[in-house]
Amino acid sequence: MWPLLAKTARLLPAEAAHKAAVQALRFGIAPRPSLPSLPVRVAGLQFDNPLGLAAGFDKNAEAMAGAFQLGFGHVEVGTITPHPQPGNPKPRVFRLAEDVAVINRYGFNSEGRDRALQRLITYRNKGQAAGVLGINIGANKLSADPATDYYDGAKSFAALADYLTVNISSPNTPGLRDLQDAMRLPEILGAVASGLADASENAPENAPVDYAASVPVFVKLAPDMEHQQLIAALDQLAEADIRGVILTNTTISRPDSLKSVHKQETGGLSGKPLFKLASQTLSDAHKHLVKTGMRDKLSIIGVGGIGSAEDVYVKLLLGADTTQLYSALALQGPELPSHILTNLADMLAKSGVSDIANICGQAATIDEAMKLAQHSAITS
Ligand SMILES: Cc1cc2nc3c(=O)[nH]c(=O)nc-3n(C[C@H](O)[C@H](O)[C@H](O)COP(=O)(O)O)c2cc1C
Repeated sequence: MWPLLAKTARLLPAEAAHKAAVQALRFGIAPRPSLPSLPVRVAGLQFDNPLGLAAGFDKNAEAMAGAFQLGFGHVEVGTITPHPQPGNPKPRVFRLAEDVAVINRYGFNSEGRDRALQRLITYRNKGQAAGVLGINIGANKLSADPATDYYDGAKSFAALADYLTVNISSPNTPGLRDLQDAMRLPEILGAVASGLADASENAPENAPVDYAASVPVFVKLAPDMEHQQLIAALDQLAEADIRGVILTNTTISRPDSLKSVHKQETGGLSGKPLFKLASQTLSDAHKHLVKTGMRDKLSIIGVGGIGSAEDVYVKLLLGADTTQLYSALALQGPELPSHILTNLADMLAKSGVSDIANICGQAATIDEAMKLAQHSAITS
């Protein structure tokens, strides 16, 4: 039934299929697989497995329970902006089926903070949490001061998030990626810290809480940064007590290999053609953090082009503590997470790996990681 439904959804335009998938998950119309236990600990949080749903699928926090039902160990909702905004004109998302890829220029279509807050409060009150819930915050397109928007997001969602993601890397909001620059980053990170501090001040007197200590903050970066810019950003994240870096968002580059008629559409490219670029960024980040003794401070969440257990394995070997995907779910359907996790469990067992943390960063290059992953896959 699920492969057939996924196939039917692919007949719809990409955005309509996306909407239908969110609504299906919202009403629990989804497989309920039995899953292997593959625990990982990241930034002080316990995850049931090392595969999460990346931001952008459930932008308005409508379908958390359904997304967990698919098997994801964590689900990141958002990007949520303070005020509602429509995003870019349609069409704004394209499937590149031949390339196993997606291009989107949604531009943070968001129902805004208040709607998401209502849903998240309802969700938390039901006590439904079946995994780690991340909340990804962003800035409105017409914001006069983006730092204020990140302050607002941190303050508003501190009490509801297991972790917060500061998204400064979407390519579809003019100027957003400039916030990754060493000159701008401290202001944004300072605003987030103030938001958490003010949320703590507002906590009820009989239940004081220090959100700066209890809610780890992750920052999501682009794969298109120059090496030196990436290094400078990592140094600042570690200095500012950020707990994790999500590598990476979509790319504005267009590899020569792309075949689809949509390849020149404006927007961020994701899926298979992003895999190597995102993995190289992750590997570079891991190596820099090890070299500078900051690796323990900053966890790495690997995302970009994952479509199989081997892909997850490669990201772990290159230094990811956990991983996420989005495009492959849209292209392959709702059984993908459980297939990946089942295959990953087999690969780890066949390689004699009992603790996923033990393979983190064990490969120096993508080629080496791919060889190791293929070997584990062949023998499994
Ligand atoms: C249609 C679409 C919408 C996205 N929207 C967001 C978003 O709102 N916020 C964000 O941080 N990332 C967003 N992303 C990026 C994904 O979270 C992810 O970083 C990227 O797609 C790479 O992973 P993938 O190759 O598995 O898709 C979006 C991606 C897609 C395909």
